[in-house]
Amino acid sequence: MTNTIRHFININSIPAETLQDILKHSHQLKKNKFTPPQILEGLSLAMIFDKRSTRTRLSFEIAMKQLGGHTIVMTKDEMQLGGSESVEDTAKVLSRFVDAVMIRISDHKLVEELASHSSIPIINALTNDSHPCQIMADIMTIEEKLGSVEGKKLAWFGDYNNVAKTFVQAAPKFGYELSLAIPQDLQPSADLFKNNPQITMGSDAQLAAKDADVIITDTWVSMGQEGKSIETFLPYRVTPELMALAKPHAIFMHCMPIHRGEEVTDEVLNTPASVIYDEAENRLHVQKAILAYCLENSGVHIHSNPSILIG
Ligand code: CP
Ligand code: NVA
Repeated sequence: MTNTIRHFININSIPAETLQDILKHSHQLKKNKFTPPQILEGLSLAMIFDKRSTRTRLSFEIAMKQLGGHTIVMTKDEMQLGGSESVEDTAKVLSRFVDAVMIRISDHKLVEELASHSSIPIINALTNDSHPCQIMADIMTIEEKLGSVEGKKLAWFGDYNNVAKTFVQAAPKFGYELSLAIPQDLQPSADLFKNNPQITMGSDAQLAAKDADVIITDTWVSMGQEGKSIETFLPYRVTPELMALAKPHAIFMHCMPIHRGEEVTDEVLNTPASVIYDEAENRLHVQKAILAYCLENSGVHIHSNPSILIG
């Protein structure tokens, strides 16, 4: 294969222009949602899960099917990968059967290792380090609601988790300002942001919320961290009082699943400022555009020509 394989693993290693093109395509696909183009006809996606999922599974499965492709879903424990088979052999075998792989697993390095041995695109559907598909849907939602994301102030409250880290990676790509309000003991080294003056971090939730265009939070306890104390996060709960510090048009976002009454109150979720269901729906449109990007030049798929079969 001569083309570069288009993985979608780390948002910071994909050019800004490419990410913006994927988003343009997502908006277009949403407009045409009742007449989806059959651009993935005959292609197959393996979906590997080592963690729970509702939105990611739904959006990838429906995206593939609406664009003419199909999917096979496997949990890691059902695969030989969960036993003694190496990541390398798994990657090489998957590459002979399907056209792309989507994987949700804690270990980010395993995803990169899978990609390094794979001749088909690998898509990161959440690791402990990042959740790039989610952030693409979030940016799409901000563009829909506020016109554009460039120059907007996004404020994050709570854990410095996979979703927060991906907002950090995406900030220089999309030109937004990001204020992270994180408990002191969970903050990463400030050195991480020294080359990104548009990213600020502190432990003062009120300061982060001030004049924000977008207020964002996520669960305080990510998958795999069950048993962690939530006491430290209490000052970071998104309440109507916190929302009132943001700009009057500010929207509230959460990747879901939500722990109502913990990281955000029902009062916030029940206002028009909350755009969580549009954000969830946009996973579908973004997934289609990400799949189209990954598979566009893969060169692995040859449509069968019925005239050759008959002749
Ligand atoms: N936001 C998100 O990834 O949801 P799921 O865990 O339900 O896939
Ligand atoms: N940070 C959350 C996101 C879930 C979509 C988790 O990893 O559980």
